[in-house]
Amino acid sequence: MLIGRVGFQEIMEKIIDENKQGESLVLEQKDTNKRKLFIESYGCAMNFSDSEIVASILSEQGFNTTQKLEEADLVLVNTCSIRDKAEQTVRKRLEKYNAVKRDHNPKMKVGVLGCMAERLKTKFLEEEKIIDLVVGPDAYKDLPNLIAEVEEGRDAINVILSKDETYGDISPVRLNTNGVTAFVSITRGCDNMCTFCVVPFTRGRERSRDPQSIIEEINDLRSKGFKEVTLLGQNVDSYLWYGGGLKKDFEKANVMQKATSVNFSKLLELCAKAQPKMRIRFSTSNPQDFTIDVIETMAKYQNICNHIHLPVQSGSNRILKEMNRLHTREEYMQLIYNIKKIIPNCAISQDMIVGFPTETEEDFQDTVSLMEYVKYDFGYMFTYSERPGTLAERKMDDDVPEADKKRRLAEIVELQQVHSGFRTRENLNSVVEVLIEKESKKSEKHWSGRTPQSLVTVFPKGNYKIGDFVNVKVIDCTSATLIGEAIGYSENN
Ligand code: SAH
Ligand code: F3S
Repeated sequence: MLIGRVGFQEIMEKIIDENKQGESLVLEQKDTNKRKLFIESYGCAMNFSDSEIVASILSEQGFNTTQKLEEADLVLVNTCSIRDKAEQTVRKRLEKYNAVKRDHNPKMKVGVLGCMAERLKTKFLEEEKIIDLVVGPDAYKDLPNLIAEVEEGRDAINVILSKDETYGDISPVRLNTNGVTAFVSITRGCDNMCTFCVVPFTRGRERSRDPQSIIEEINDLRSKGFKEVTLLGQNVDSYLWYGGGLKKDFEKANVMQKATSVNFSKLLELCAKAQPKMRIRFSTSNPQDFTIDVIETMAKYQNICNHIHLPVQSGSNRILKEMNRLHTREEYMQLIYNIKKIIPNCAISQDMIVGFPTETEEDFQDTVSLMEYVKYDFGYMFTYSERPGTLAERKMDDDVPEADKKRRLAEIVELQQVHSGFRTRENLNSVVEVLIEKESKKSEKHWSGRTPQSLVTVFPKGNYKIGDFVNVKVIDCTSATLIGEAIGYSENN
């Protein structure tokens, strides 16, 4: 369930939409490539980014991407395990591939990537007969070998998790891109072990990517005309480069490695300085790792967008503890206070889970009151979904009745809508900077783009074009969209 203004999932849905319509631009197809790859992604931005790495690896193996299932030699689906519903969606897609293979394309091979591949391993091959290939998130470089095995008629699997794989040496093929915004992954895995979350099991231990390769990717994107990057990680604030290796092994690093290490605020600064006219975003932040120097760096560089996605999951100290979120409600409120003090117009968005085991009405009211305190710009809200193998599944009963979960969800979704409306209206009569991304869905005479706070803004096209930075005077709004008039190029242009 999601609500509010444009966030990653909405961007993703847009990409999926465009994928279906076949309108989008696919860069870097090679004339010499004769095989056809249909690749689609579900779940978080990291999956979409990983699929671009996979497309790049397979481009070297003679594959160009196609948007038509019927003509694909190889179909890959990058899967999500975060909630049961996400897994069911993938299972439905597998049924669709089955039908296409049976009716139109008997030679097509099907592979599953990502979190379900890692979670289910050989079980996935047994449960879904259509699958020929199972590849976990750290094993994509093995795809050429695995595909060769499949072509020889054997099922193939590699779900080994890695200590140092970051794909930093691979230049992603940008899939379904608008040519303006791109994802750049900076960390992989997560060491946090929130008790509800399957990610540490499917994506392994946390490791960071060499800052040099991150900067090179950003420079390359800029040279290709991109104007905005989003630095991606399960937990970006925990970024730490000290020459490679797992985050948890940092203590064992030598003095020199420690002295020259790069943390997240330093990385942000390096990115902001490398391309001062490129917008820099990042996601996702975890409150327990978020430090003041990140806020200060954001304040110092105008090209770092004033938006922080800062999931909290619950406003109740007791539930936060059960979730193994290593901060209190009060510490989170202090962090919000500090952010707003240093960057008053910083947008803040949330993820919330309702109906975590043992959550009472009183706990839930703590979530409601925290939302009232922050008045988030937007957010993604979910009912708790028990995930196999997590600590919550092993130690706790999923004991909040479904009806209560649904009611609580509806209540906070409605509250978020009120807060989003409030935040959106704060922009009335001001001038905002908009990076044009596409034509407005509702009118071909209007452009649509986003402010640094990630607020969608539409305005008459004039002579502007996609990729321009434009100052827009806001004259009206809906609860989630600003409506305005362009008054000139911004200084970023
Ligand atoms: N750090 C990650 C968070 C991953 S999951 C990131 O980069 O986005 C995204 C959100 O899904 C979480 O913040 C949480 O709100 C939700 N989520 C995770 N596990 C869940 C579960 N078992 N049930 C319901 N929602 C869940
Ligand atoms: Fe999951 Fe918590 Fe990491 S939500 S991705 S274990 S920060």
